[in-house]
Amino acid sequence: MRAVRLPDGRDLPVLGLGTWKMGEDRARVADEVRVVQRALDLGITLLDTAEIYASGRSEQVVGEAIAGRRDQVFLVTKVAPSNASRRGTVRACEASLKRLGTEVIDLYLLHWIGGTPIGETIEAFETLKAEGKIRAWGVSNFDTDDLEAMPAGAQCAANQVLYNPRSRGIEHSLIPYCQAHAIPIMAYTPLGQSGQVLDNATIGEIARRHGATPAQVALAWSIRNPGVVTIPKTATLARVEENLGAAELTLTEADLADIDRAFPPPRSKRSLEMI
Ligand SMILES: NC(=O)c1ccc[n+]([C@@H]2O[C@H](COP(=O)([O-])OP(=O)(O)OC[C@H]3O[C@@H](n4cnc5c(N)ncnc54)[C@H](OP(=O)(O)O)[C@@H]3O)[C@@H](O)[C@H]2O)c1
Repeated sequence: MRAVRLPDGRDLPVLGLGTWKMGEDRARVADEVRVVQRALDLGITLLDTAEIYASGRSEQVVGEAIAGRRDQVFLVTKVAPSNASRRGTVRACEASLKRLGTEVIDLYLLHWIGGTPIGETIEAFETLKAEGKIRAWGVSNFDTDDLEAMPAGAQCAANQVLYNPRSRGIEHSLIPYCQAHAIPIMAYTPLGQSGQVLDNATIGEIARRHGATPAQVALAWSIRNPGVVTIPKTATLARVEENLGAAELTLTEADLADIDRAFPPPRSKRSLEMI
């Protein structure tokens, strides 16, 4: 699979698996573990979770799924802003490591900006890195001015933000900024919400042209630009393989122009959308 180079030289695969909402319903946990394992079997190695997802139970689902095959996985999790103080970040990381059943997190993100000064969270991240508990750190829901406000020389390895055809404001300045500074973007909610992307007639027509599915078109669109990876979530076994198929789908100029007509690109700076 194509990959995006991280600042530290490691590769971030362009398509991973999100796990928001996994672990919320105990009756579904065994199926969710199987979905994550199926993803690994198929070669999807980038897994995204967060301490707040299902109050830690999403991390437990991931931990159960990767037991015995940790080496295959590029593991991403996030500290909540309410825990992002110097000591709070270290404590939160140690709790995540326990739930994930691992000794190291590949990429540890600040979930969104809260009240703690970013410099303090970064100091905690650097401590965790020096102790070998995380391999790299990054941020989520940061706009260009938030990135610019980080201390000079900060080793931010990624920015995870909302990105799908309905929410493409980041194309105006955040994507160019991140590309210029070699900060990979992780596109979250790439399939959109409430069917407004997948049920769109244009997306459906492009899918028909390629013998693909609307989800594959939306995902291929989200990773068409250099420096962007995507982390669709599914808890449905059959959809894991379907979504993986997007990594092989290349949209044509005509497809992209059709999507631009259906979902116009931003003409000016928009404030960062988040969910
Ligand atoms: N950093 C942040 O603030 C932030 C915010 C939101 C999300 N995220 C991360 O990004 C991941 C993805 O975002 P998301 O979960 O919000 O949304 P998403 O991946 O865009 O969409 C997930 C929804 O789409 C459905 N789906 C998946 N594959 C499909 C397919 N092939 N055809 C039709 N429907 C399909 C899923 O249903 P089933 O599960 O039933 O298949 C689920 O309801 C999250 O899981 C999380 O890891 C991060």
